[in-house]
Amino acid sequence: MIEAVEAEMQAVLASEPSVDDTFFAMLQYHMGWVEADHTPIGKGQAGKRIRPLLCLLSCAAAGGEWQKAVPAAAAAELLHSFSLIHDDIQDQSPTRRGKPTVWKIWGAPQAINSGDAMLAYAHIAMSRLFERGVAPDVVVRALRRLDETCIELTKGQYADMSFEQRDDVTLDEYMQMIKRKTSVLVELCAELGALVAGQDEVTIQHFGQFGLNLGLAFQVKDDILGIWGDEAVIGKSAATDIETRKKTLPVLYGLARHDGLRTLYQQPTNQNGFVPQVITCLNEVGAREYAEKEAAAYSHNALHHLEAAAPTSEGYKTLYDLALKLLNRMA
Ligand code: IPE
Ligand code: IPE
Ligand code: MG
Ligand code: MG
Repeated sequence: MIEAVEAEMQAVLASEPSVDDTFFAMLQYHMGWVEADHTPIGKGQAGKRIRPLLCLLSCAAAGGEWQKAVPAAAAAELLHSFSLIHDDIQDQSPTRRGKPTVWKIWGAPQAINSGDAMLAYAHIAMSRLFERGVAPDVVVRALRRLDETCIELTKGQYADMSFEQRDDVTLDEYMQMIKRKTSVLVELCAELGALVAGQDEVTIQHFGQFGLNLGLAFQVKDDILGIWGDEAVIGKSAATDIETRKKTLPVLYGLARHDGLRTLYQQPTNQNGFVPQVITCLNEVGAREYAEKEAAAYSHNALHHLEAAAPTSEGYKTLYDLALKLLNRMA
């Protein structure tokens, strides 16, 4: 399945001879297909491709032909890619997937431009549903949902960045923020799979809710890995979330329970040893265990919606296993 998505994205991002090669190299570098000097790389350095996989597995589980949903799966991964290129600038992240981020190599102005192009390519990818014989009204709906998702995602990014300056972020605000920045896109993937499969509205909604809850669990897990993850395995920094004072779930939990942690965050600038001191405070109040339990609860909700959607037993099992794998992931 993933090979089909990879081929689809490569077709969309194919270079045009009249354009400077570096324009395409930046996009292809982020996709994990070439090195910064344009040399092709073999397999193994791309992202996990969770979103396209979820889209295609949802289509199959909903009784559809997954090949028809490949353009939607490609569009979701390209939208994700756009968001990461910009997110790495916004979060000042030096590494992703074990390599320097696009802005670190080519500078923020070029990386912004690259992300803009990636977003437009996501639209082109989605419109290719027509070529797979998907009905025009379904394609228009999918394109509209892509834009709605993108707007939610940018609202989530707005909240995520504005929370860096605040120490009074509530749990409700946090949940709204991660729902928007991460979960709505995962929701879209499962929803579009069921839509392309020709399912009824109630089933489509259950697939959507499955994706949404899975996305919440996925982001909480990302918060945990962003503090306690092994950098060599997660391929990104395990310090920048704390350095940039992100209000991740473990940090929110700690701020509500640890006076020393609150005092640390009240200093206007990070003092020497800020990151290890924050982690010690979080460990003292059991912030990791709390966040792990929350992630498990959202995964459980996700599986409940998957059961309610009553997909074919074969596809159901694969999606179920994927949800559990995501909960237990180390990267
Ligand atoms: C990273 O997403 C950003 C989040 C929404 C947590 P992934 O963990 O899916 O990143 P890649 O694509 O596999 O690198
Ligand atoms: C994930 O943001 C959501 C988007 C990029 C829209 P994060 O900032 O939490 O993800 P990582 O940790 O950089 O992958
Ligand atoms: Mg971010
Ligand atoms: Mg980030």
